[in-house]
Amino acid sequence: MHVDIGKLRKLGEAKSSRIIVALDDLPGGVSPQSIDIFLEEIAKYVVGIKIGLPLVLAMDISDVAELIGRFKGDFYFLADFKLADIPSIVKKELSLIERNGFDGAILHLFPLGLEEVLNDKDNISLDVFGLVAMSHPEARLLDQHFGDLLEYSTRLSLSGVVLPATKPELIQKARKYLPPRYTIISPGIGAQGAEPGTALKHGADFEIVGRMLTMSRDPRDVAEKIVEEQRRWLR
Ligand code: XMP
Repeated sequence: MHVDIGKLRKLGEAKSSRIIVALDDLPGGVSPQSIDIFLEEIAKYVVGIKIGLPLVLAMDISDVAELIGRFKGDFYFLADFKLADIPSIVKKELSLIERNGFDGAILHLFPLGLEEVLNDKDNISLDVFGLVAMSHPEARLLDQHFGDLLEYSTRLSLSGVVLPATKPELIQKARKYLPPRYTIISPGIGAQGAEPGTALKHGADFEIVGRMLTMSRDPRDVAEKIVEEQRRWLR
């Protein structure tokens, strides 16, 4: 398992941006053509593309794999299927995610027992991010176990963790607690209420932005403005 997520960091430095786009939908719907136009539009300002079930269920997985192949050099591709199964299935899922061209994947940490999958370096070379808290205000059960999940994340060979920009105090606590090599990626910017730059200001490394960009009439302009704000907080 990679703990140093070279590609994500290198693209972030090269573009002087910390945006990962959540590509769940586009105004006219998703197709290989509409996605190509969108990605070419934002390529200068965006480092990563997060793909989850909404896109995979709207398109064929072969279209998704081809899309990743076309843009592999331009973006870091992150699979957000929030995996939460028994270790042997998670191992299989991670290997299939990697086979489809993704650079990284997000999984839940609460099923525990993930050591046998993640701490064996021969298993997989994908970057893996553990989810320790969620942006929604009602995600209270996760919030109650924040300390345990954070501690558990350090016992796994993870590339980093996912923490919400809508709860910046959790990002701050995690940044102080986690080893510096852990990359913090943070959703909740824009449609869910957090301002661009909020997560970076509190110690995150990348901000995940969905509808604010994907549903905009002028995504290039929005991306440029987000990056301008982020550049105030680059470490
Ligand atoms: P919007 O449109 O709200 O999209 O900017 C957010 C994207 O991020 C995902 N999401 C989360 N993923 N922890 C996660 O791992 C969270 O707390 C969280 N909140 C939102 C969501 O699936 C969408 O793709």
